[in-house]
Amino acid sequence: MNLKINFNGAIQDYAEISVLDHGFLFGDSVYEVVATHGNKPCFLEQHLERLRNSAVGISLEIPYDDEWFVEQIDRTVQLANFDESYIRIIVTRGVGEIDIDPSSCDRPNIIIITAPAKVYSGQYYENGIDLALVSVKRNAREALNPGIKTGNYLNNILAKMEATRQGAQDALMLNAQGNLTEGTTSNFFFVNGGKLFTPSLDCGILSGITREMAIQLALENGVPLEEGHWPPEELSQAEEAFVTGTVKKIMPATRLDGKPIGNGKPGPITLRFMRLYDRLLDEKYGVPAAPGQSQ
Ligand code: PDD
Repeated sequence: MNLKINFNGAIQDYAEISVLDHGFLFGDSVYEVVATHGNKPCFLEQHLERLRNSAVGISLEIPYDDEWFVEQIDRTVQLANFDESYIRIIVTRGVGEIDIDPSSCDRPNIIIITAPAKVYSGQYYENGIDLALVSVKRNAREALNPGIKTGNYLNNILAKMEATRQGAQDALMLNAQGNLTEGTTSNFFFVNGGKLFTPSLDCGILSGITREMAIQLALENGVPLEEGHWPPEELSQAEEAFVTGTVKKIMPATRLDGKPIGNGKPGPITLRFMRLYDRLLDEKYGVPAAPGQSQ
């Protein structure tokens, strides 16, 4: 695979990590995924802030400041020289004894992986994706708060596998109270009566950066939006739905459990938000050159 990996500041094509790293042994780590636009990292400040908040959430001290991260990400992205990059920043608890007590871990390992950007099929944007309402519940906030982006993603992996078995592209998870939460790597929005609805943070979701942008776009463009708690039955009346995430951006969701959402096609509000988000990226980071064309 075509990768550049920055391991504690050293950039290589390949990296190995100790099996005694608690990130490997226990999923004791935090991470971020950053996308690029014109190969410039998008919303890096927000991602680094969330990385720090996640680290605080698991009492992990990150030994470097944001300046270090920005510099290392820049070096790694430059050296990799892809048209567009997928950037994954991981901070693990570090190497320690085989014991869940993290006090034996001396220092975190910091890994920045850059790969060519993951591109979803255009079909997903033209026709929308199928979601499956899965039986796996989203982690309770009181157990492992989904607001902390830890390297322990088994909850989402199990949900994703269930969705795949049902022939859907992603899962929609409920919380223990039976209310809508989010997808396995995305946040969820639906439209009813021309108004946008999205589960509130206290449902137990990640505070997605793309979600925040979509909320801001709704505010700036006079689209009414409500955050709250809704059971899945609410979706039987929905006219449209979409998911948001760093890699997916804004992606229409047009079927739920094999049944069409609204008329089963990406609706006008979804299409409008897809355009608004693309325009926001162009305005912030410049219009990217066509693939293969150097800028
Ligand atoms: N995931 N919810 C979950 C559980 C996520 O893992 C993600 C992001 C999101 C969307 O957040 P954002 O808009 O900040 O990307 C919501 C990344 C893309 C991943 O793990 O691949």
